[in-house]
Amino acid sequence: MIDFYDLIIEPLNATHDRPGFHSGVELLDRYLRKQAKQDINRHISRVFVAVEKSRPQKVVGYYTLSSLSIELNQLPENQSRKLPRHPIPAVLIGRLAVSQSSQGKGVGKMMLADAVKRVLSVSDEIAIYALVVDAINTEAKAFYEHFGFVPLSDAGLRLFLALKTIRR
Ligand SMILES: CC(C)(COP(=O)(O)OP(=O)(O)OC[C@H]1O[C@@H](n2cnc3c(N)ncnc32)[C@H](O)[C@@H]1OP(=O)(O)O)[C@@H](O)C(=O)NCCC(=O)NCCS
Repeated sequence: MIDFYDLIIEPLNATHDRPGFHSGVELLDRYLRKQAKQDINRHISRVFVAVEKSRPQKVVGYYTLSSLSIELNQLPENQSRKLPRHPIPAVLIGRLAVSQSSQGKGVGKMMLADAVKRVLSVSDEIAIYALVVDAINTEAKAFYEHFGFVPLSDAGLRLFLALKTIRR
């Protein structure tokens, strides 16, 4: 059972058990094991993990944030029409995964909400038009669509959500 009052989301650090994380998708597990620390040190991505306060080493889930710009022609016509003719600033959730034993219990939703909160807070200082996600497969795509993300026009598994729709 997940006790949500006990769940915290914090930046990945050396105390977290990265090899013990298993989401069922090897690519996502390997990223946490092998690549995440390097990406943090090189300022390529920020990595946040969900842990229980009572078991602070055990990673229940993780996600990554980095910045990117979207070419205007990748946005659907009804979105791009009102925007200036240059690349649009965005934040990318490059990876998001929940440990197999904790899936279906609201952890993914909580991490997504945490990401939105962080992005909204940064967007007061640095303009960010949208949150973009790279879904690893069609199932993950359906997860993001459940929360209102829509596919970018030219990439089936890349989706976005304009921050103005969240602010409303
Ligand atoms: C996809 C994943 C991130 C979802 O996280 P989760 O913790 O299992 O999902 P949650 O329990 O938070 O679900 C939140 C909501 O999303 C819905 N949902 C979950 N998975 C869904 C899916 N694949 N398609 C559509 N809706 C989905 C739930 O029904 C729930 O709806 P509700 O809030 O209306 O009750 C997780 O199952 C996972 O890590 N899977 C393996 C790795 C992966 O595919 N990662 C995504 C790649 S980038």
